[in-house]
Amino acid sequence: MTVLGIEGTAWNLSASLVDDDEVLCEASSAYIPASGGIHPREAAQHVANNIAGVIRQVLSSTDPRLIEGVAFSQGPGLGPCLRIVGTAARALSLRLGVPLVGVNHCVAHIEVGRWKTDLVDPIVLYVSGANSQVLSYRQQRYRILGETLDIGIGNCLDKFARSAGLPHPGGPKVERLAQESRNYLPMPYVVKGMDFSFSGIVTAATEALKSASLEEICYSFQETAFSMLVEVSERALSQMDKSDLLLAGGVGANARLQEMLSVMCAQRGARFYAPKSEYLQDNGAMIAHTGLLMLRHGIQTAIACSGANPSFRPDEVEVPWIETH
Ligand code: ATP
Ligand code: FE2
Repeated sequence: MTVLGIEGTAWNLSASLVDDDEVLCEASSAYIPASGGIHPREAAQHVANNIAGVIRQVLSSTDPRLIEGVAFSQGPGLGPCLRIVGTAARALSLRLGVPLVGVNHCVAHIEVGRWKTDLVDPIVLYVSGANSQVLSYRQQRYRILGETLDIGIGNCLDKFARSAGLPHPGGPKVERLAQESRNYLPMPYVVKGMDFSFSGIVTAATEALKSASLEEICYSFQETAFSMLVEVSERALSQMDKSDLLLAGGVGANARLQEMLSVMCAQRGARFYAPKSEYLQDNGAMIAHTGLLMLRHGIQTAIACSGANPSFRPDEVEVPWIETH
């Protein structure tokens, strides 16, 4: 089966063509704010200006008659971006005369990770800009075991970086600066059962800018926030009695986070997996691949049900394609 997928929830507009085995083609256009963070109106304008181009690029790589479905990111994400992506996907599905399928962006991050690592039933740590969750598959759904009680870890890094005068996206810049220090400053560590909170770290780190070096703040920020994520991931592995951990989402590209998770997994005899960075950050292939799984299992989205869903939760999605036994 060959499916075209369109991702456009926030910063990376991306279209991709996949079949059952591999990514056949991908074309992307990243929105990089001139100053400040992601502005929803500007992000939507970026999608509107570039969506025809990325779709055209992907279509030109194949005979459009071979495309058997059109998948699109239905949510969660920025409403103004989602609406443009949905409109393009509906038009394309009608034009090609093939089924339309609305994909949950969080589930797509997980599915591309499972695809690229050959994992069946891992605990998933999904860490990106707007989302931070620990999930586990059980009875036809990804269940959210724990999540941030306020902002996602990526937004938290980006927000702090902005107040330190660093350009968006802040996550990779904080990672580089953190490598220059080993001096730990205490930061708020908030874990409640399987849930966690990051807003206190942003406040403390911003306050520390008055008296400490940027390098030591970045180091302390990462060590504290990532330790919280390692703690809940370990608790999830233990409570669900699973032995694989999969990392998903853009913040997963961070080498220090990967190192801390792999040490924890090695200590308890579990296995740690992360796909390549191109499949951690937002990408069209994850939407196309998840759309393919859905279509293969008879799930389609009627035009009347294809509206944007900015607060779409991963546990709302039926997942009939995992066989755990
Ligand atoms: P979602 O809707 O899943 O929240 P998103 O729009 O945030 O998606 P992603 O590409 O999944 O997009 O994640 C982007 C985030 O990842 C940004 O906050 C960025 O700063 C962060 N990030 C990227 N690389 C790194 C890194 N090396 N270290 C830390 N954070 C990173
Ligand atoms: Fe994402």
